[in-house]
Amino acid sequence: MRRFEGQRVIVTGGANGIGKATVARFATEGATIVLTDVDGAAAEATARQIAAETGATVHPFAADVSVRADDLATVQFALAKMGGVDVLVNNAGIYYEDHFEDITEARWDRIMNVDLKGTFMMTQAVIPHFKQRRSGVIVNMASTNGLAGEIYYAHYNAAKGGVVLLTKTLALELGPYGIRVNCVCPGYILTESTAAMDSDEFVNDYIQNKIPLRRTGKPEEVAAVIAFLASDDASFVHGDAILIDGGQLAD
Ligand SMILES: NC(=O)c1ccc[n+]([C@@H]2O[C@H](COP(=O)([O-])OP(=O)(O)OC[C@H]3O[C@@H](n4cnc5c(N)ncnc54)[C@H](O)[C@@H]3O)[C@@H](O)[C@H]2O)c1
Repeated sequence: MRRFEGQRVIVTGGANGIGKATVARFATEGATIVLTDVDGAAAEATARQIAAETGATVHPFAADVSVRADDLATVQFALAKMGGVDVLVNNAGIYYEDHFEDITEARWDRIMNVDLKGTFMMTQAVIPHFKQRRSGVIVNMASTNGLAGEIYYAHYNAAKGGVVLLTKTLALELGPYGIRVNCVCPGYILTESTAAMDSDEFVNDYIQNKIPLRRTGKPEEVAAVIAFLASDDASFVHGDAILIDGGQLAD
């Protein structure tokens, strides 16, 4: 399937994990991509790797989604390099585990600024272009943590809950302009970041007690749903929050 032949895509936080798998998925389906990441060296390395593996054009761009000037610069860079943008994937995000009383203002602010405000500002940056063309697709990265609470993740849960309702509100405001907006809600996806955070014992216990499919998810399984939502296969899917969680929240 090459559903994105000739299409131009921005993926934020694309150097690692789910973002990297998403860039690879769009690349194999024919898109040209701007891959942004706060880690500029990693963005360059991943862009080079995916371009070599797929033959797609992948432009790396160092940018912090929590900085408005970087978001505006990302869209300007994308317009200059690709001549337009068809799809924005607001993937960049961070997560910390903290007991509620121990959450510092700095950690609360960082999660809010990257996960929620970054999504808000990147979207604002691309909207004038989408409105002018009366088309465009946005896929936001929420989480199961945006739909149900998880102990010791108050800051992250609040940010991702915000992403879900930001998505639904944007769907109401932007739908009349032909701009589709959805979000994905992954459960436990094994990436280098989650592997570094959790012990094998924790992961096994989580799988046994919380995930009916009895395994963690793969970044590629999230990328596949992001690509579906960005494609014409999802042309009437709008304002939705799609779970990719092995049944975790079915309970
Ligand atoms: N892994 C999971 O289990 C899981 C589950 C649900 C949702 N998510 C969400 O998926 C997204 C990706 O998570 P992941 O597990 O792949 O993480 P990851 O740490 O593997 O990758 C995140 C990437 O984003 C980049 N990044 C971090 N802060 C940034 C910023 N301010 N600006 C630009 N780039 C930045 C990092 O450098 C990194 O390359 C996040 O929004 C996360 O909350 C992950």
